[in-house]
Amino acid sequence: MTAVMRTLLVASSGWLSAILLATVNAAPPAVPVQRTQATSPPEGPMFAPSSECVACHNNLVTSSGEDVSIGASWRGTMMANAGRDPYVLASIRRETMDHSSRARDVEDECATCHLPAAQKLAHANGDKAAVFAHFANANRPLAGIDALAQDGVSCTVCHQIAPDRLGTRDSFNGNFVVAAAGSDGMRRAFGPLAVDPGRRRIMHSVTGFVQAEASHVRESALCATCHTLITEALGPDGQVIGSLPEQMNYQEWQHSSFSQEGRSCQSCHMPRAPGPVRVASVLGEDRPGLSRHTFVGGNAFMLRLMNRYRAELGVEATSAELESIARATIRQLEQDTASVEIDPLAVADGMLAVDVRVRNLTGHKFPTGYPSRRAWLHVVARDKDGRVTFESGRVTETGLIEGNDSDASAEAFEPHHTEITRPDQVQIYESIMGTPAGTPTTGLLQATRYLKDNRLLPRGFDKRTAAPEIAVVGAAAEDDDFTADGDRVRYRFPAGAVERVEVELRFQPIAHRWARNLARYGAREPRAFVSYYDAMAVSSSQVVARTARTVAR
Ligand code: HEC
Ligand code: HEC
Ligand code: HEC
Ligand code: HEC
Ligand code: HEC
Repeated sequence: MTAVMRTLLVASSGWLSAILLATVNAAPPAVPVQRTQATSPPEGPMFAPSSECVACHNNLVTSSGEDVSIGASWRGTMMANAGRDPYVLASIRRETMDHSSRARDVEDECATCHLPAAQKLAHANGDKAAVFAHFANANRPLAGIDALAQDGVSCTVCHQIAPDRLGTRDSFNGNFVVAAAGSDGMRRAFGPLAVDPGRRRIMHSVTGFVQAEASHVRESALCATCHTLITEALGPDGQVIGSLPEQMNYQEWQHSSFSQEGRSCQSCHMPRAPGPVRVASVLGEDRPGLSRHTFVGGNAFMLRLMNRYRAELGVEATSAELESIARATIRQLEQDTASVEIDPLAVADGMLAVDVRVRNLTGHKFPTGYPSRRAWLHVVARDKDGRVTFESGRVTETGLIEGNDSDASAEAFEPHHTEITRPDQVQIYESIMGTPAGTPTTGLLQATRYLKDNRLLPRGFDKRTAAPEIAVVGAAAEDDDFTADGDRVRYRFPAGAVERVEVELRFQPIAHRWARNLARYGAREPRAFVSYYDAMAVSSSQVVARTARTVAR
């Protein structure tokens, strides 16, 4: 496709569709490339920039008027911005500074999932992937491999993942296979639908990719390739000193009821649009149940941070696109993530006992994924005038939790509690990474073990039979009130004049300590990220569930 055609395509898809229609209707003899020689026809480029795909997979609206555009939705997601994410760039820089003798390997490793197209292309050329080089040119528009790198987890990344070795260990850590071009030289875009030859021809002639029906796109194992991350820790000379199961969404899900019930990652993270709707604005026919490409998780904070700084970060999504995914994220956090309850309150010997029950509603641990995530209980007791008489788990404007040892000191962390009697104790659901010496760390490539993991378990998850890589670690392992049905914590404090007890479960994707530890690194990316974080720290956490009860006297 020429640059001119590309421009036309983006500029005027209505006009284009008329031409394309004419092309389809004229139905020239079948595409299969003529073979005059025994050599296979030349393959197209391995990846296409998403703009080429968005051109036809946008402006999609359901009969009730909901915009379910695949392109516009995807652009506003964390995955579309997995390379531009300033926290990711700051962390990669930190790792290259901590392990400077292995800096190139570190960039290559992080690129595997955050800049996957750039990484696969580099490897196809027998090279290692760079990260920062793709962000060096501040003069936009981007071209070539820089554009593909900044595209993050883009259309032709996911849609070219081959079924080979999915679900096995060899496919994890981003080691999926990019399907080779067919014997006809065509690169394929796998999808769930059967598409007729005319529509295949038109997509191929415009993009070099041809649709191919394949069932593996509906399986969790597809997502597991990048959503399983086992890191290798490096010693002072860059040698491997151990490993850590850093992100285990897929294994947590496998050990839960959701995998038995056939509820895939896609079923929750790509919910179907109601009724028949087109999946392509150009030449699409009505199809039942488009899979929304919203990929909503829990990181509304970063979506809004990237929105605020979108110009300097080079984010392509519009402000409205980012805000739409941020809102959907908050809705999911508030409605589908967790619940809290308070048992009837009991006063004995002047003390009030408050039993709080928390339950995880997601398909994996909550929190899950990246280890900077944490959720905690904020409990407040008030007298009849609303004055606070007891409080645990208050968050400050800088995003730190009062009473949490880890926020006070990088060397400490808050244990799992079964009973809380003092305001400086707080129940925090989190994983704490440790060095071989047992010191807490936020250095991804320094950690070889968990010192604590009391993240809430999903329905059906038996902690006694869980594999070591998804084990509960610390006091929660022995706590009989910490199970797949949730956690029960008892708060006990003087009943005094308490009239009402309020409980909220809060979630913070980037814990205070994780941001603070980056402030020590005097390079551009960590400095930039810490300044963004500080500017927005007041909104770094979010209520996931809340309830209250009145003391009966
Ligand atoms: C196997 C794939 C994979 C590799 C390799 C990988 N990551 Fe990630 N990373 C992810 C996924 C998936 C998430 C999102 C998880 C979530 O949202 O909980 C993530 C999230 C992050 C985040 C949090 C971003 C935010 O906005 O909160 C940071 C920081 C990060 N990664 C840094 C790194 C660094 C540094 C490296 C290299 C040492 C690396 N990643 C390598 C898959 C990977
Ligand atoms: C010229 C318009 C056009 C462009 C550009 C385009 N597509 Fe398509 N695409 C279509 C049409 C038409 C369909 C079939 C819709 C139908 O049958 O209802 C389709 C279907 C698909 C499907 C579903 C396939 C299946 O079997 O389920 C995928 C996946 C897909 N496209 C990916 C892409 C990717 C990736 C790009 C960018 C490289 C792209 N498309 C660019 C027109 C286009
Ligand atoms: C993170 C992986 C991922 C990315 C990125 C992604 N898709 Fe998809 N896409 C899927 C999966 C998985 C399905 C099938 C879902 C199912 O049927 O359960 C799908 C389905 C589709 C379909 C078929 C219609 C439908 O809704 O089932 C089209 C068309 C499509 N994608 C186009 C695109 C385009 C265009 C982009 C880039 C703007 C894109 N996809 C980015 C994973 C992805
Ligand atoms: C090529 C690697 C790759 C594949 C395949 C992939 N992801 Fe991701 N995903 C990532 C990375 C990297 C991030 C983190 C982006 C960041 O935080 O900067 C991420 C983040 C996410 C998030 C978190 C959003 C948030 O708010 O924090 C969700 C949800 C998600 N992916 C769902 C899926 C689903 C569902 C699939 C399968 C259909 C899938 N992913 C396949 C790499 C991948
Ligand atoms: C029953 C529905 C459900 C299923 C099944 C499910 N998830 Fe989730 N997921 C959620 C909800 C709700 C959240 C938001 C709460 C949170 O952030 O953990 C979430 C959050 C996430 C996040 C962001 C975590 C964070 O906070 O940083 C990632 C990444 C993710 N899921 C990946 C997956 C993958 C991969 C699978 C399949 C192996 C999967 N999910 C299966 C419901 C589900």
